[in-house]
Amino acid sequence: MATLELDDIQGVVARGYGQLSAACYLMLQIDDPPAARTWLQVLAERVTPGSERPEEVATHVAFTVDGLRALGLAEDDLATFSREFWEGMATPNRAAFLGDVDASAPEHWRWGGPAHPVDLTVLLFARDEPRLQTEVAAIKGEWTGVSEVVRLDTYLFDSPLEHFGFADGIAQPIIEGLSRTGPPENTLPPGEFILGYPNAYDKLPPRPLAYASEGSTALPRTKNEAGVQGQDLGRNGTYLVFRELEQDVRGFWTFVSAASEALYGTDDHDTRVRVAAKMVGRWPSGAPITLSPESDTLDNPTRDNFGYRDGDMNGHGCPLGAHIRRTNPRDALEGTREESITVSNRHRILRRGRPYGAPVSRALDIDEILEATADHKACGLHFIGINADIARQFEFIQHTWIINPKFDGLYSDPDPLMGNLDGRHGTFTLQAHPVRKRITGMKRFVEVRGGAYFFLPGLRALRFLSTLTGDA
Ligand code: HEM
Repeated sequence: MATLELDDIQGVVARGYGQLSAACYLMLQIDDPPAARTWLQVLAERVTPGSERPEEVATHVAFTVDGLRALGLAEDDLATFSREFWEGMATPNRAAFLGDVDASAPEHWRWGGPAHPVDLTVLLFARDEPRLQTEVAAIKGEWTGVSEVVRLDTYLFDSPLEHFGFADGIAQPIIEGLSRTGPPENTLPPGEFILGYPNAYDKLPPRPLAYASEGSTALPRTKNEAGVQGQDLGRNGTYLVFRELEQDVRGFWTFVSAASEALYGTDDHDTRVRVAAKMVGRWPSGAPITLSPESDTLDNPTRDNFGYRDGDMNGHGCPLGAHIRRTNPRDALEGTREESITVSNRHRILRRGRPYGAPVSRALDIDEILEATADHKACGLHFIGINADIARQFEFIQHTWIINPKFDGLYSDPDPLMGNLDGRHGTFTLQAHPVRKRITGMKRFVEVRGGAYFFLPGLRALRFLSTLTGDA
């Protein structure tokens, strides 16, 4: 088994920092490359390696392709990054592929789109809000050559929740070689999430090289998968997918209430929660409905150790199109159980996102949400996904599973939380015996407000990038 160089890997890959409950993300642009490089040398000293377990504060930094170019990385070297990364999330083809159309189109984005490009992000996590503010002030006090495009704050619920009112951040793949262990079917080789290590195909994932750029700090030399010799820029780095996803909480519960009435002749509290849970695939507490189909109670303490094959292959518990079943079908795909898990596991991501914006109802009370005024301030999820192969992992989940109405033999069922792009034809099917039920007129309850693909370098690579000698 490969030994992970945790002192060179940024810590956010290894852990989600649950105990560092305050967080914010600074989206920056580079105005003066030599000054920015000098500042990055200082910032590099603050960046938290995976070998530490910070109790106070953690700092991370990641770059878009524009940012690497601005720092002076040669075009030939940029071309060694994956195509999705150097093309970027906001190109017209990719936006269409990801479903970022209409109100979610990049031209409307607050950041990351053509009007507000971003070069780098600094991700900050701290024990509490005052400590976070001190850290932000310290970093801003040090920076030179960069300016803020936008600062993205997060909202702290008492427990990890998202704004529709469901527990979040439960299901995560385990990286082989880290201290946390779990069932083998949920344990993945490090190369799925970190460049420079074997992946699920027992191959090294394609990784960038610096052969045309020079820095005053050298990196170990290597040959990449294409046989090109150069400095090992990718090792211990990875790709970070960031999307600002605004949630229409009132619209969601209004829709769920109408659907409850239409399906069951009542929109009382329990019926609404049941319908919404079917859409998510878990109850608000996080209990998987496949294990607990009738009510939000579960004795099983491990909320993530389950499959669909034994007893729920037909979707009578968790509908086939529910959000969690389509973002990780586990053992429910075609073929044997093992084949299904192998295929599902080729499309996993580490989720590190956090909610933002005050909740529509602090108590997450559905009636209060329904009565909320339409001008409630925006709230949603700062979605952060970490993966070694953006196309095979994040983009596959988003394109082939989330927005695809034909997922798993369905006909017109996109992801019930996010997917319906045309606002007219989407349905959500609740498989049942003797007759299934069907909710029609599905809407889009999540809009994209910003986003970018970032390269999260290893610490040595960060020092190399901050001492590049080429002209930007
Ligand atoms: C605002 C948007 C979103 C909301 C409200 C949301 C909500 C949730 C909730 C409540 C869960 C169940 C809790 C858990 O298993 O941790 C979940 C799981 C998950 N979501 Fe999302 N999600 C959103 C966007 C996305 C996106 C954009 C992706 C990927 C492209 C995604 C991928 C996943 C995955 C992989 C799981 C775990 C499934 C499993 O392994 O069982 N989600 N999400």
